[in-house]
Amino acid sequence: MKIVVAGTGYVGLVTGVCLSNIGHYVTCVDNNVEKIENLKQGILPIFEEGLSELIEKNKTRLIFTTDYTTAYKNPDVIFIGVGTPENQDGTANLTYVYQVIEQIATSLEKDCTIVIKSTVPIGTNDKIEQYFKEHSKYKINVVSNPEFLSQGSAVKDTLYASRIIVGTNNQTATEIMEQLYEPLTKEPYNVPYLKMDRRSAEMVKYASNNFLALKISFINEIANLCEKIDADIEQVSKGMGYDKRIGNQFLKAGIGYGGSCFPKDTKALYNIGKENNIELEIVKACISVNNNQRMLLIEKLKKIYNNNIKGLNIAVLGLTFKANTDDIRESAAIENIVTLLQEEVTIKAYDPIYNKDLTKILESKLTNKELVKKFSFYNNIDNAIKNTDAVLIFTDWYDIKKYTVEKYALLMNNPIVIDGRNCYSANQFKNKNIKYFSIGRN
Ligand code: UGA
Repeated sequence: MKIVVAGTGYVGLVTGVCLSNIGHYVTCVDNNVEKIENLKQGILPIFEEGLSELIEKNKTRLIFTTDYTTAYKNPDVIFIGVGTPENQDGTANLTYVYQVIEQIATSLEKDCTIVIKSTVPIGTNDKIEQYFKEHSKYKINVVSNPEFLSQGSAVKDTLYASRIIVGTNNQTATEIMEQLYEPLTKEPYNVPYLKMDRRSAEMVKYASNNFLALKISFINEIANLCEKIDADIEQVSKGMGYDKRIGNQFLKAGIGYGGSCFPKDTKALYNIGKENNIELEIVKACISVNNNQRMLLIEKLKKIYNNNIKGLNIAVLGLTFKANTDDIRESAAIENIVTLLQEEVTIKAYDPIYNKDLTKILESKLTNKELVKKFSFYNNIDNAIKNTDAVLIFTDWYDIKKYTVEKYALLMNNPIVIDGRNCYSANQFKNKNIKYFSIGRN
């Protein structure tokens, strides 16, 4: 089929590339000229395992362009995978989605199926279809087809997806979507395919992300209790995970969830509830638990230093919101660094992948801009932890987990390790003259 994908972020780019891999002819459109020029040369805007290999493999079926007028003229299907960031009040911002919708309406020269992959509030697909009824002379069927890929495993999550959710009540769109996804529903992928009404499909996305976020907040609350009662959250999670009704995933306690999805989707769902006069108590609690959890390492640090942290030298290991991504959006590390800098702490940070200029981001968040001078970035752990008074671990990167623990005693001024991801076992620190603190383990 002839497919156009609007947006070359995580969702759009991975969707486009994977659709080309199952035999479709795909044009990826973005209004960012630099991004498109880079993609034409094989330079990717995101770090995602296996993606550049797939681009190379399918290059005869993949086009990258900024020319939306030509691209939207006569495709069979248009996917919209642009971002829906958070507004100040926590609601979803649909500006980018509507920009694309307007461009499509002015460019299309035939009937078309428009597939919404972006995460949008329930009822948005109906509004988009209404928009086309009012602004286009062609028959446009709008289909909800939410995305469930995780950063770091996006290609696998798309090709071997847990499920494909297709929301439409239209017969033509139903047939087109079945045909489009047919290769993924067969060997070797065997992805379950579920067709439903549009609003339910939109809700599946929010409910899924919120449920996963809830699991994380739940296990974090249990972890905090485990610390008090001298139990070990790692053992507790393991014990719970054997029950198939609970499942063993998303039970990893830590410094809370971050990234571009859970923080925004929990707030968006809470707001959807409010708009419909329903107070989503569980979602509210999930958000509140997460907000507190994200500041836990500083709390622990203050307790250790009797609240006197001004002037300390602190190492921060891991800047991204999770391992295997270069994304720092809603990363607890960044929020914590800003708070520490504001308290006049010196920060030495390390991350194996994130290497862009962080100082500008930090500066924009600091009330006293001068304090950014107290921040420095190192590209190896040894240099980051040298002469520091404590190490705070925010991301469970492989090379942090594999770091020789003896070096903390050797290189640090005061060997205190506060591990927000339970990268190590307490046993590794036995008789090493290092004070080790973690989450949910006394
Ligand atoms: C999440 C969902 O997992 C995807 O299914 C969904 O498609 C995506 O959002 C989206 O809406 O686009 P992602 O944000 O890439 O994917 O990351 P996750 O792996 O879900 O992790 C989110 C956060 O939760 C990270 O900060 C991670 O460290 C944290 N987490 C995850 C935990 O603290 N404990 C866990 O057990 C699992």
